[in-house]
Amino acid sequence: MRVLTGIQASGKLHIGNYFGAMKPMVELQEKHELFTFIANYHSLTSSKDAQALKQNTIEAAVDYLSLGIDPNKTTFWVQSHVPEVLELYWILSKFTPMGLLERAHSYKDKVAKGIPASHALFSYPVLMAADILLFDTQKVPVGKDQIQHVEITRDIAIKFNNEYGEIFVLPEHLVQEELATIPGIDGQKMSKSYDNAIDLFMEEKELQKRCNKILSSSTPLGDPIDYKTCHIYTLAALFLSEEERSALQERYKSGKEGYGHFKKYLKELIWKELAPAREKRAYYLAHMDEVHDILNEGAKKARSLASAKMEKVKEAVGLL
Ligand code: ADP
Ligand code: TRP
Repeated sequence: MRVLTGIQASGKLHIGNYFGAMKPMVELQEKHELFTFIANYHSLTSSKDAQALKQNTIEAAVDYLSLGIDPNKTTFWVQSHVPEVLELYWILSKFTPMGLLERAHSYKDKVAKGIPASHALFSYPVLMAADILLFDTQKVPVGKDQIQHVEITRDIAIKFNNEYGEIFVLPEHLVQEELATIPGIDGQKMSKSYDNAIDLFMEEKELQKRCNKILSSSTPLGDPIDYKTCHIYTLAALFLSEEERSALQERYKSGKEGYGHFKKYLKELIWKELAPAREKRAYYLAHMDEVHDILNEGAKKARSLASAKMEKVKEAVGLL
């Protein structure tokens, strides 16, 4: 099965991203034909600064490779290295009724947040449709906020196919339902916008400091602590097996340890989980030429598929 997803590179990754997006993606490449790209044309819609866009793009590539995207299994590239997608974007625009885009809530949300209401922002879902349809994608793993975009993609593809025959595969979204929202240090949804995130690649001391800031109640030492309402426990449980969770619950119930102990324990869990990724990341940061080679190789492969598809599309619509 062909699975494709785009990554918005928008700064430092946190534990919510890790469990909510990256781990599931890395698992997908074991069973499916995974296509993943850094969506820098999309990021341009909200970027103010050329240097930051460049930096975020390359950092995202390094982070994803470090966290397990394997270029031998996954086709991994930067969106703007495969410009065929913009050609398709224009052609698909003809099959995109204005009303379809006017109903898109992500556009309205972004404008409400202060992103300038440009045409690029408005037509963002058409470019996303081009990303998906260009590669005969069957499944698209996305967060809930992006489901509507996959539906718009299907609508555009159906309209096109009705006119020109079965050129495009109709994609389906793939949403991880069972994963609960991961809390940040204040107990609200962890998000880079709320200043409550625990970033993946911090110095060890910084990481401990961040864990120490997790909001907790004031159960005195000696009293049992209710693990069910403890954010430290919720975060720690993400890293633990069923058995290890039971053992941690016992420690909470015993009353022998306080929040300080559990914060230290959580830091150890995070630090240990990310050790292999940290090592790889240090390697890639010292060998950026390899990162560029991987991305170039990925773009080459993606481009050969993209140009074959574009020939069919152009033939269908009558472009010479
Ligand atoms: P942020 O809220 O920090 O801006 P993004 O919106 O960039 O995060 O999220 C990227 C991906 O990470 C999404 O697909 C989402 O599923 C996942 N994700 C982000 N925050 C969390 C969280 N707190 N819990 C679970 N998954 C999350
Ligand atoms: N819009 C997606 C997001 O904000 C990123 C994206 C761009 C994407 N093109 C895509 C996701 C194609 C899936 C498929 O997260």
